[in-house]
Amino acid sequence: MSFVVAIDGPAGSGKGTVTKLLAEKLNLVNIDTGAMYRCVALYCLDNNIESTNIANIKNNLDNINIELKRENGKQQVYLNNKNVSEKIRTPEVDSVVAKYAAIKEVRDKVTPMQRKMGEKDDIIMEGRDIGTVVFPNADVKIFLECSIEERAKRRYKQDIEKGINVTYEEVLESIIERHKLETQREVAPFVKADDAILVDSTNMSIEEVVNEIEKIIIEKKNKKRII
Ligand code: DC
Repeated sequence: MSFVVAIDGPAGSGKGTVTKLLAEKLNLVNIDTGAMYRCVALYCLDNNIESTNIANIKNNLDNINIELKRENGKQQVYLNNKNVSEKIRTPEVDSVVAKYAAIKEVRDKVTPMQRKMGEKDDIIMEGRDIGTVVFPNADVKIFLECSIEERAKRRYKQDIEKGINVTYEEVLESIIERHKLETQREVAPFVKADDAILVDSTNMSIEEVVNEIEKIIIEKKNKKRII
């Protein structure tokens, strides 16, 4: 049976970077599940399908083919055979993705794909419902927390570095709005699993977060080996 590490955390908590670094250090396959919801949102934006038009979304789900490929050690995201790794990370997708991710039919398509990815490889999977819904029996569950202001600060810095023209206030507002939608939705809301270990990254460097989680994973791996 494969070894599964679930990392759940909000936007800007550093979970993407932390997960990538841990995957490299511990030789785990890194899976970013948010990218899959972003693909659904991008497809709908490109085809003018509103998030309120559930019937239309349902009709289109079979036309949305998402592939996560490993190329030169990096995860690349393909939507209907087109590399959309950058296109799914624009503020436009940021601002609508939570609405599409809240739709039951969308989650019913994406969740089984995620479970399948954990069947053969040792994985580290990041998202919002990995420890609660996708892999409730994950070997390690981490809930990465971070204050909303610090998250907005980090996301703003990333956007500016990417050349995206936004203000800090706009980023903060978008993060607050998204957080509300993610935590209050009916299907698979973003909540801490009872048995997840909480790590608060607000005042920690990436390196400190990686070291703390690495220790937890190694301890669990050693225990599993003994058992
Ligand atoms: O992690 P991210 O910001 O790339 O996630 C994009 C969106 O998808 C975000 O609104 C949360 C949602 N998401 C989710 O509902 N469940 C997951 N497992 C991963 C992401």
